[in-house]
Amino acid sequence: MRSPVQQYLESIVDQCNSGDGEVAAYIPELAAADPDQFALALATVDGHVYTVGNAETAYSIQSISKPFTYALALSDQGFEAVGRKVDVEPSGEAFNEISLASDTGRPKNPMINAGAITASSLVSGDSGIHRFTRVREWFGRFAGRALELDESVYTSEITTAHRNRAIAHMLREFDILEGDPEETLDQYIRQCAISVTTQDLSLMAATLANGGIQPTSGERVLEATYVERVLSVMATCGMYDSAGDWISSVGMPAKSGVSGGIIAVLPGQAGFAVFSPRLDPHGNSARGVQLCERMSGDMDMHMM
Ligand code: DON
Repeated sequence: MRSPVQQYLESIVDQCNSGDGEVAAYIPELAAADPDQFALALATVDGHVYTVGNAETAYSIQSISKPFTYALALSDQGFEAVGRKVDVEPSGEAFNEISLASDTGRPKNPMINAGAITASSLVSGDSGIHRFTRVREWFGRFAGRALELDESVYTSEITTAHRNRAIAHMLREFDILEGDPEETLDQYIRQCAISVTTQDLSLMAATLANGGIQPTSGERVLEATYVERVLSVMATCGMYDSAGDWISSVGMPAKSGVSGGIIAVLPGQAGFAVFSPRLDPHGNSARGVQLCERMSGDMDMHMM
């Protein structure tokens, strides 16, 4: 028999079926995605995973990578060294805004592209490829399985990444990036092209919900002090220029990606992941936002 949670999730999926929005067009490989794909997964901190739709369909993680890479940079370098390069202030701007603080030159936060490229550069390693390999393995520890690069998404994005290339070079000009900006750009684009399923994302979110311990492997992946920082930045900056709307209506730390995924974290309880490629004007999954609002209201998950 289906559990009450499973029955509930199946019932809201049918009701929250917004067909609004368009798939991301600026990365050719994403523009070709089937806009009507859909999946929902809920992973509890004790490792139970509920799914609806095609929760084992893989897609590129895109910006949902950003909190996890920031977590690795913090683990490698500590708060102070990371804080010298990237701030924790909401920008109120689009994810790809070319913006740095006028006094320090720091990107406003590690969730916008400028800050995320900076965080990638702060991962320890001898080369961009070495740093990327560490990032890929690190994400796998949150997901509870080894993850791979989607080569075609990587190739598609690196050959059209004019805006991110401009951001990386600007960061180098202000000495926020210290090495070769092309190497860091390549590392960041690879990070965004790591292939995940909705089920993986729910477990990655549940690891954050569980204070940094992966619910199925039992491994401590991230120190609790860094979990607190990552969730704070997700709560204030994870949904970009709709972060205020999101925290008011859903009330959970979250992160979206342009391939159509959203994760949300209910500390101490569960991680959620939704996948639906049609995006709203902020670059967040339109149906994903609708479903998270609904679940938060029905299950009283708003943290405030
Ligand atoms: O850097 C980019 O533009 C993409 N690789 C990721 C952007 C993204 O996912 C924004 N989120 N909604």
